[in-house]
Amino acid sequence: MQILDGRLVAQETRAELKRKIHRFFEQNKQKPGLAVVLVGNNPASKIYVRQKIKAAEEVGISSEVFSFSGDVPTHELERKIQNLNRDSSVHAILVQLPLPSAFSSREVVSWIDPKKDPDCLTVENQGLAWSSQPRVLPCTPSGVMKLFEYYNIPLQGKKAVVVGRSQIVGLPMAQLLLRANATVTICHSHTKELSLFTKEADIIVVAAGRPGLLGGSDFKKEADVVDVGIHRTTEQGKSVLSGDVRFKEIQDQVSFATPVPGGVGPMTVAMLLENTFHLACLNTGKTNNA
Ligand code: GUN
Repeated sequence: MQILDGRLVAQETRAELKRKIHRFFEQNKQKPGLAVVLVGNNPASKIYVRQKIKAAEEVGISSEVFSFSGDVPTHELERKIQNLNRDSSVHAILVQLPLPSAFSSREVVSWIDPKKDPDCLTVENQGLAWSSQPRVLPCTPSGVMKLFEYYNIPLQGKKAVVVGRSQIVGLPMAQLLLRANATVTICHSHTKELSLFTKEADIIVVAAGRPGLLGGSDFKKEADVVDVGIHRTTEQGKSVLSGDVRFKEIQDQVSFATPVPGGVGPMTVAMLLENTFHLACLNTGKTNNA
């Protein structure tokens, strides 16, 4: 089995982006700006936000986190996002999900100016993306597509199965695979006999959010497996990170697979940085080939 090394591909993507951002700064005397809005105390979200900020700073994107307690009044959150919409030094606004259950993520996302939405979560950006005129594409699925491209994995005519149908990963992943001419099946929590679908597939992207959902007997030998899940679990008394796929079971079996950690996660961050830069170029009227 060959590893789809997200750390490596993300590192190369960030190095290329850093060069472009350097040129952008020299020409415009302004850095691309990313604002991250974090609400509540979700420990995983705090870690992801820290990773995003660190990665942004490393490529020359200026970034700031705006943290709110889980009981912040809705109007206060809205006011902050509206202020960020008006702030010309901010080109991208990311609201870290999931939000505490008291908030409607649909409502909060609707406050973001679509021209500053690097996640492609606003209705306008989704409409543009799926009518083939994307402003940006969602970070995780476009990161997965970049991995396929880097490792020359052909998609045309392949049987692809996406497990999960979330707005941010499963659905857009299926759309991008379809656009690449794969024959796509979407499976989800109500799918009966999931492994009947996964065993038939050439390409499987698992984004179910269920630790160890699939293992060795669920894939055919030549399959390429991408694991979007990330979970903290305990193995022999030790705390470890693992995915939706039982990696040890498949590593001598399938053709290509992503590890967790070090697979899809770093690609999501790299694509967020690319989208932020792209929006900075659009919003300042500059090209992104600087
Ligand atoms: N939570 C987990 N992944 C993501 C992501 O890509 N974007 C946002 N906004 N929240 C997330």
